[in-house]
Amino acid sequence: MPQDSAPPLPRDTPPAPPAGRAVAALRPASGAAFDWLDTARAERRRAGLVRTLRPRPADSPLLDLAGNDYLGLARHPEVTRGAAAAAHRWGAGATGSRLVTGSTELHARLEADLAAFCGFEAALVLSSGYTANLAAVTALTAPGTLVVSDAGNHASLIDGCRLSRARTEVVPHADPAAVRTALAGHRGRALAVTDAVFSVDGDAAPLAALADACRSRDAALLVDDAHGLGVLGDGGRGAVRAAGLAGDADVVATVTLSKSLGAQGGAVLGPARVIEHLVNTARSFIFDTGLAPAAAGGALAALRLLGREPSRAARVRRVARDLHARLTAAGLTAARPDAAVVSVRAPSPEAAVRWAADCRAAGLAVGCFRPPSVPDGISRLRLTARADLTDAQIAAAVRTVVATAPAA
Ligand SMILES: Cc1ncc(COP(=O)(O)O)c(C=O)c1O
Repeated sequence: MPQDSAPPLPRDTPPAPPAGRAVAALRPASGAAFDWLDTARAERRRAGLVRTLRPRPADSPLLDLAGNDYLGLARHPEVTRGAAAAAHRWGAGATGSRLVTGSTELHARLEADLAAFCGFEAALVLSSGYTANLAAVTALTAPGTLVVSDAGNHASLIDGCRLSRARTEVVPHADPAAVRTALAGHRGRALAVTDAVFSVDGDAAPLAALADACRSRDAALLVDDAHGLGVLGDGGRGAVRAAGLAGDADVVATVTLSKSLGAQGGAVLGPARVIEHLVNTARSFIFDTGLAPAAAGGALAALRLLGREPSRAARVRRVARDLHARLTAAGLTAARPDAAVVSVRAPSPEAAVRWAADCRAAGLAVGCFRPPSVPDGISRLRLTARADLTDAQIAAAVRTVVATAPAA
């Protein structure tokens, strides 16, 4: 009988055992294998470090200073139209890994446009900024390579270092002299890795001085520009371009499409020979399904919009500075923002969680950073500026954060 016309099995028919193999009766599951999770959960509770998912409705009444939609593009009609049109034309998924069926003409266009916008020779799009960082670090290193990594780097760069099996030396935060010293004691291949803008305090890395330290030893520099794209540099072309390093022969950048571009995905930007090497060796690229067409179409539309409306980048920087000025004027301790992230200190993890919850109850969504997401053990509220916030919304957000602040 042809397979198409085979009658369906009754619902309670157990699957037939493979021919010739006896099926042993299974003992009932006791769950004992996971009893240790109860201890881990109790420890999290004691330390005030429980995390919970909070699904948001499509029309949340909260004022959002927690997300990373820095330019207000995630729901911009041009961007959502770009995403929808791409899904209609190319399908809901990429259908395969990039080297098999998952590279569409849309991916190629996005790569060309991203490289041109940020000033690099070539680009490679991956399914997230996280996998882009894994790809860049692992493909550019080998067990004998020295990786010099800033102590404040994002978890995805840290995980890339761990996966690489290279020797990783963690150096003090934003310290080019420490990078220079670490490189001086090494012979052979070396790579310095840094965030362009650090996620926790929103401060910018000294990229020109880092490049200079790398060049003193012929080391490569990898910069994660996740928070710089769309915010820093001329028209939001990123921190690497602003530092005059985009397109340089020894500089590679990674970006995410999920923050300023309001979509999803990530990319590695750099010399064409670096990108060619990644295509051939980066496991988080090769063994991952290609970026969904809707995300590629959305990011492409956002990139074009930003090209037409470069003032969005300047506006988000102004909003961040305004938030910082108002919060510090009210007596709170906040780091001076170099980009869109404004970080406000909290006295403890528990106080940070309560503070964020009180803001939420008052109609304001803010982020909350606690150990282990903070390298120095200091908990913070994390506010993100958006280019589309009105002055009245900025004033209301500050009023709420100040009114709910815990006693120092
Ligand atoms: C500095 C930095 N790098 C990389 C990533 C990962 O990007 P994605 O969310 O696209 O995986 C993030 C996201 O939070 C980030 O803040």
